[in-house]
Amino acid sequence: MGKGYGYGKVILFNEHFVVYGIPAIASAIDKKTVAEVKKCKGKDFIIHDNRDATPGYKEEKLEQQKESIIRIKKAMGIEDCIEIWLHGDLKAASGIGASAASCAAIAKAIADEFGMNLSDEEINEIAYEGEKAYHGNPSGIDNTCAVFGGLVWFIKGKGMERLKIEKPVEIVMGDTGIVANTKKAVAGVRERKERYKEKYDKIFKEAEKLAYEARNALLEMDWKSVGELMNKNHKLLQEIEVSCKELDFLVEVALENGAYGAKMTGGGLGGYMVALTPGKELQEKVAKAIEKEGFYALRTKIGI
Ligand code: MEV
Repeated sequence: MGKGYGYGKVILFNEHFVVYGIPAIASAIDKKTVAEVKKCKGKDFIIHDNRDATPGYKEEKLEQQKESIIRIKKAMGIEDCIEIWLHGDLKAASGIGASAASCAAIAKAIADEFGMNLSDEEINEIAYEGEKAYHGNPSGIDNTCAVFGGLVWFIKGKGMERLKIEKPVEIVMGDTGIVANTKKAVAGVRERKERYKEKYDKIFKEAEKLAYEARNALLEMDWKSVGELMNKNHKLLQEIEVSCKELDFLVEVALENGAYGAKMTGGGLGGYMVALTPGKELQEKVAKAIEKEGFYALRTKIGI
């Protein structure tokens, strides 16, 4: 039996903009998907997806998941039938890197089962192939976090640079419970970017400037500035129409309860938001406020 895992992630700055080469900042979180893989008799693969999930998520993603596994097997040159078990403490939901975590976990587990000695870079390339089934034309930021972990500065096509902070800081991730289609969200931005070229060029320029400011603020652990920049980033994401009223509501709840900053995270149109809440006390206060409104709140950290 081969075994592998992949981390979930939170994008702190510039999801969507990253698809067009603008720098983004993301962090792996302390939740993982674990895959186990065994050679078996039959055709292609059998999957037992035992991950805890947002209702409807697995059904909605089933076809993409099948295509993803076929892509991963092809990229690894595996023709045998494989049986796959997925589990772990990362909830399968939109916005938290669940698809990338599963691609990384499956690629590692296959490599383990077939005795392939692959580097993390090679696993990352294979996970990227798998991600294409979910995202169409992914930037690669999600699979990079899933494979390497840590806090990263990422530029599409150039790869990642690790950002070191002295100690991890608390965040809350609030789940709208809405299963979102990243492929559709990314395609929508592309379409509007072409249609409203001037407006979008201006927004994209602001996002690029913001990335460098955020990088400095993070490295200085200046949480007040990081929070303010997250709020600005959320506004830019609203302007390119990838937020939704449930995400905006959870952002408001977090800010009203003292979060330093809050924004949607990931593909948007549902899925998760993230609030910066340094210290256990503030984290608990914001998480409880989100739960009081009937939403799931994940207490985790960035920079682990
Ligand atoms: C999805 O987690 C992040 C997006 O920027 C897509 C991508 O980077 O591939 C929306």
